[in-house]
Amino acid sequence: MDNFYITTPIFYVNAKPHLGHAYTAIIADAATRFHKLMGRDTYFLTGTDEHGDKIVKAAEANGQTPKAYVDKISGLFKGLWPSLEVRNDQFIRTTSPAHIKVVQEILQKVYDKGDIYFGEYGGHYCFGCERFYTEKELVDGKCPQHETAPEYIAEKNYFFKMSKYQGWLIEHIKKNPEFVRPERYRKEVLSLLESGALEDLCISRPKSRLEWGIELPFDKDYVCYVWFDALINYVSALGYPDGDKFKKYWPATNHLIAKDILKPHAVFWPCMLKSAGIEPFQRLNVHGYWLIKDTKMSKSLGNVVEPLDMIETYGLNAFRYFLLREMSFGQDASFSEEALVGRLNADLANDLGNLFNRTLSMTHKYFKGMIPVPDNAEEIEDAEIKKLGQKAMEVFQTEFAEMRFARALEGLWELVRGLNKYIDTVQPWTLYKNKNMKRLSTVMYVMLENMRKIAVHVWPVMPDAAVNMLRQLGIEFDPRKVDLSKEMDAWGLLDTGTMVSETSNLFPRVDSIKKDEPEAAAAKPAKAAAKAKEAPKAVDGDSGAIEFEDFQKVDLRVGTVVEVGKHPDADRLLLVQVDLGEAEGPRQVVAGLADFFKPEDLKGRQVVVVANLKPRKLRKQLSQGMILAVKTESGMELLTASGTVPGGSKVS
Ligand code: ME8
Ligand code: MG
Repeated sequence: MDNFYITTPIFYVNAKPHLGHAYTAIIADAATRFHKLMGRDTYFLTGTDEHGDKIVKAAEANGQTPKAYVDKISGLFKGLWPSLEVRNDQFIRTTSPAHIKVVQEILQKVYDKGDIYFGEYGGHYCFGCERFYTEKELVDGKCPQHETAPEYIAEKNYFFKMSKYQGWLIEHIKKNPEFVRPERYRKEVLSLLESGALEDLCISRPKSRLEWGIELPFDKDYVCYVWFDALINYVSALGYPDGDKFKKYWPATNHLIAKDILKPHAVFWPCMLKSAGIEPFQRLNVHGYWLIKDTKMSKSLGNVVEPLDMIETYGLNAFRYFLLREMSFGQDASFSEEALVGRLNADLANDLGNLFNRTLSMTHKYFKGMIPVPDNAEEIEDAEIKKLGQKAMEVFQTEFAEMRFARALEGLWELVRGLNKYIDTVQPWTLYKNKNMKRLSTVMYVMLENMRKIAVHVWPVMPDAAVNMLRQLGIEFDPRKVDLSKEMDAWGLLDTGTMVSETSNLFPRVDSIKKDEPEAAAAKPAKAAAKAKEAPKAVDGDSGAIEFEDFQKVDLRVGTVVEVGKHPDADRLLLVQVDLGEAEGPRQVVAGLADFFKPEDLKGRQVVVVANLKPRKLRKQLSQGMILAVKTESGMELLTASGTVPGGSKVS
């Protein structure tokens, strides 16, 4: 099938987007771009899930009407995607009239078929999940996702005869090993289905309890249960039943979700489709959770990472690369800035960035920046690196198609590292010294052509960086002109005589994690120790001692605090203006001192400042230096000279 339709969950609008949502959207975007380069016609859908109890509760808590509230939060999701280079083709909202119409059509269809009945039911309802749990599914009487006690609700409602489709679904999953992936989730669904009778699904809520939903077409006193409404977005967005998009892209569908919503997608949804007479989707792809220190990142737990903070600090390319490289698809992964910086420095700055820096500067040194015409004669190293490249691209493409992004990138980096080794082996500088220009031309061409191949392969992951890499090779990138599937066998697509950039500098190294709150790092000695381990060059063996020269690099100065203000966006930070006797006047240092000092207490005091710390932004405020302080049991003491000294005096 040459069409490729991909969806993310439609996210609840009860809180603003965090890294977990960003991850699913980014991998959907990366997969879309990949399949585009493989020559497929792609369609990428995302959106927001806006009905149900929990949205009403969130709106109430914010003192807004549901409508005003969902408009606002939905806008936050929609507005975030462009800054992450997430290029969805459509953004669906379940409150849109077109969606509502399709939900009602499908409800009517299923009702007419006799698959919906009226009955009474009492069950354990989790508002976080917006679903009933069976006794068996609860853990210590609590919802396993939210770890909160569900509410017991008993009322008259409409039910969907899901049990009727249990046998069919088991067969379907057995016959189609691709239906739920990775395998562990397929097994999980099968064992759930085979462990006992499936209960019918309660698909309504009485308006007396909840009005914020889609009215049932066959009973004006009820609204539709939010999951029944939400799942239908995947076909309503395509204009089911007659829309061109529906005909074109259904059922060539890849749903993407995390494991939290496996049951609705792997059980409710196929049964709903079957009942409505719609072909089942092709594939459900399930990823694990991003964890923060072993705990799921979630809005209800409040331990969320803001995607925009990360891209502001480390750049979008590094952020996207990290997310895809770090998580083994299907398993949980831990998010930390240390790990992100580690990948950025090792894989991007050292491996990929260096490859570009070295090769482009050599092309300028040896060939005035022009891509040379290779000699026909190939040496064994050239054949070897080509073979390595073919293998790397093959691994990348196979794994990427299976959504195993980490393995795909690992595979491609074999070529990145292989090329760095190739340079070390063939030593272009020696060829140049020996005036062996024929051989040197071939070597440089082998490098540059492989770099082009790497750039087109990383486009799905780091679109910005890839466009820049190609531009540096003199190519204006156009995805329609690339066919990834031919790259393994193609050679020589890079035009000779083209001028390449003189410098690259795609991924500057980051020296250490750029923490928002400086005191956060100080409070965690374990983290500092781990960091020291990562930078073995600066420490001497086991003692942790540094060379005198290393100490001398730190420019410590005494300055006078002339003005202090509160940080507009962070309660714990102060904006301290310190006079270091510099011609430019006082400089601003953002310091984590607000818990210990009132602004007026600091004014006029002399403090010791690390004056040559790279300027950085802390919550959008420029900080030029760091104020030294000692944390004590009861508070914080500032370092200072024992007597008054001229502003800017050097500490030595
Ligand atoms: O469940 N790690 O919406 P939701 C990885 N509206 N992914 C995460 C994550 C984490 N820690 N946290 C969230 C809903 N996600 C329903 C869906 S679909 C018809 C209706 C991502 O806002 C992941 O994709 O709770 C997960 O499945 C989704 O957000 C849940 O989003
Ligand atoms: Mg959720």
